[in-house]
Amino acid sequence: MAWTKADWRAKPRVQMPDYPDQAALNAVEAQLGKMPPLVFAGEARRLKAQLAEAGAGRAFLLQGGDCAESFAEFSADNIRDTFKVMLQMAIVLTWGAKVPVIKVGRMAGQFAKPRSAPTEVIGGVEYPSYRGDIINGFDATMEARLPEPARMLQAYTQAAASLNLLRAFSTGGYADIHRVQSWISGFAEEPAAARYKDIAQRIEDSLDFMSAAGVTSATAHELAQVDFYTSHESLLLEYEEALCRVDSTSGLPVAGSGHMLWIGDRTRQPDGAHVEFCSGVQNPIGLKCGPTTTAEDLKVLMAKLNPENEAGRLTLIARFGAGKVGDHLPRLVETVKTEGANVVWSCDAMHGNTIKSASGYKTRPFDAVLQEVREFFAVHREQNTIPGGVHFEMTGKDVTECTGGVRAVTDEDLSDRYHTACDPRLNASQSLELAFLVAEELTALRKERRAIA
Ligand code: PEP
Ligand code: CO
Repeated sequence: MAWTKADWRAKPRVQMPDYPDQAALNAVEAQLGKMPPLVFAGEARRLKAQLAEAGAGRAFLLQGGDCAESFAEFSADNIRDTFKVMLQMAIVLTWGAKVPVIKVGRMAGQFAKPRSAPTEVIGGVEYPSYRGDIINGFDATMEARLPEPARMLQAYTQAAASLNLLRAFSTGGYADIHRVQSWISGFAEEPAAARYKDIAQRIEDSLDFMSAAGVTSATAHELAQVDFYTSHESLLLEYEEALCRVDSTSGLPVAGSGHMLWIGDRTRQPDGAHVEFCSGVQNPIGLKCGPTTTAEDLKVLMAKLNPENEAGRLTLIARFGAGKVGDHLPRLVETVKTEGANVVWSCDAMHGNTIKSASGYKTRPFDAVLQEVREFFAVHREQNTIPGGVHFEMTGKDVTECTGGVRAVTDEDLSDRYHTACDPRLNASQSLELAFLVAEELTALRKERRAIA
């Protein structure tokens, strides 16, 4: 029987709201169903082909952005700053590791959040949990916490406007490699910023040389623009279904809400609604793998999500926490090997490292983030498999949400600029430091493997 975009409705669902007003929900779904998709099938196919390269070690996936986008923090400056940091990180990786970097934002659609508990107590009162701006409001009032279908329309509009700006930045001149110096953010005296400046200078010298030889942005448009893709957790399935479209080229269904969708660690039940929906769309799919993911789970999920074993279709996003990667990743790597499965291995070094600080804030020690990345590379080195990407939560703003880094954000500093509505993000300076670590790991691995070969 052929898959349909509504099949998930017959499956057990978790982490989704119960909308009190069914008529309002139906009306919003109908309205969204008539809207143009945000992304097009050809773009999703192109990303899939690039991810296939990452799976084979010929490219590297850089996936990052907000934990949750919010209506209140929506601004051109925020989008530009996050985009700019992604460009900087990509430069560090491309320069250091000499691989093309596939840039995928947790942007233009990352609005829905799974929560560890259905309710939370604030000021002695129990409220329904905040589930992201596409579902309910952050304010601690019963009214704000009610799931509101019309929020889907606002999320769609914000995603469309964000994507429009990202497309403009990617192709309209902002991302031209000749502007490499102008993307510097953070403080010039920091070691990572100084290292970036050095790379930027060397790239400029190369560009001057190429220009003298007749190669400029006008003659080689690869220099003038970048590919930039969007992604989000496929959590709110009413929204996903309403934006699902049939691709006129292939006749197959494609999610129109973003280029890449992922399935969260809390919603990856093999017979559940979320896996069902993602199994039928043609987009590249990410699957979070956490400490409770068994080898058997993974085997079943790979068969469901990628029955044809298509390269680039499935990205496994490992998120175990520093100190635990060695306990969990090897069994999953073994399963992938035994099954002969094509996957991209990516490392989410954020979600296994969340702690509550002494000052009461949810934070992530930057050292733990770096440590998890090192452990991820170490396992792939031992197993002779391919580390294909990283996934992280960051912002271009100078926030104080994760402790540590060269500028040493302390527990006490967290209250200074803690702006996230959800999980703590790396700031611009920490993101750049992370990029240098990844570039070093990739370079070391390539040298080792070349020496053996
Ligand atoms: C997330 O990526 O924001 C998230 C909730 O991750 P996970 O499903 O891995 O916990
Ligand atoms: Co998060």
